[in-house]
Amino acid sequence: MFRERTVSELRDRLREWRKAGERIALVPTMGNLHAGHMALVTRARELARRVVVTIFVNPTQFGPGEDYSSYPRTLDRDAAMLERAGADLLFIPAVEEIYPSGLSDGTVVEVPVVSDGLCGAARPRHFRGVATVVAKLFNCVQPDVALFGEKDYQQLLVIRKMVRDLLVPLEIVAVPTVREPDGLALSSRNAYLTPEQRERAPLLYRTLVEGRERIRAGERDYAELESWARRELEGAGFQPDYWEVRAAADLGVPGEGERRLAILGAACLGRARLIDNILFDL
Ligand code: PAF
Repeated sequence: MFRERTVSELRDRLREWRKAGERIALVPTMGNLHAGHMALVTRARELARRVVVTIFVNPTQFGPGEDYSSYPRTLDRDAAMLERAGADLLFIPAVEEIYPSGLSDGTVVEVPVVSDGLCGAARPRHFRGVATVVAKLFNCVQPDVALFGEKDYQQLLVIRKMVRDLLVPLEIVAVPTVREPDGLALSSRNAYLTPEQRERAPLLYRTLVEGRERIRAGERDYAELESWARRELEGAGFQPDYWEVRAAADLGVPGEGERRLAILGAACLGRARLIDNILFDL
């Protein structure tokens, strides 16, 4: 596996592959890799001859007081995992490489409407930071396909919309959430849970499953369902941020005839902010 730290070295390497007509997949990450990321790499290998993984803890998607400086950085371990999984290139740029005009004076990408609400309400500039860095990574790598996890479902829709609106010539592939046997969605932030909180953490997913079953059984008072889920979570010591039933296509408020739904939840448990979702058809 090649390791590149600058955009110009990355481009030199990619030029050779492109000249040879090889299809390139991109898996953008912030590192501290787990089985969820590895599922993206495995799928990427099925879809392209070359797999490029980026590890970049993107400062602009963290708000003031969030965990940018303490975000787990485990490069040696990550690189060994990627090597074993058959990634071809690891791109690990410095902040100055990605933000040549600095963090506050650079050009940004805003993706309206779908960035509002849910995580966008709790983390006001988060999706602007995500869309901006992902656009930059797309421009650095110019992949044929890029892969993202469904766990960050709002992020996935933000990126799909950006690609559509900016006419970016690539395909976005979504990969289902990888879970622990007890249902907890894998996340680098699960490392913040104490052993006792870790025991309680799967409740978030259980409320999503129960919500889905109640809707499938005919319940349509989503406001009532949301209050029930909040009470469940609060009762177990979570601080719920949101738990909402939305249209899966665009995260709008679901109309009467909506057939494909998403329930999305976010809640803090101790130091960890857990997010999860469930997608289903009626
Ligand atoms: O999902 C993530 O890890 C990040 O938001 C991403 C897409 C790598 C952008 O920094």
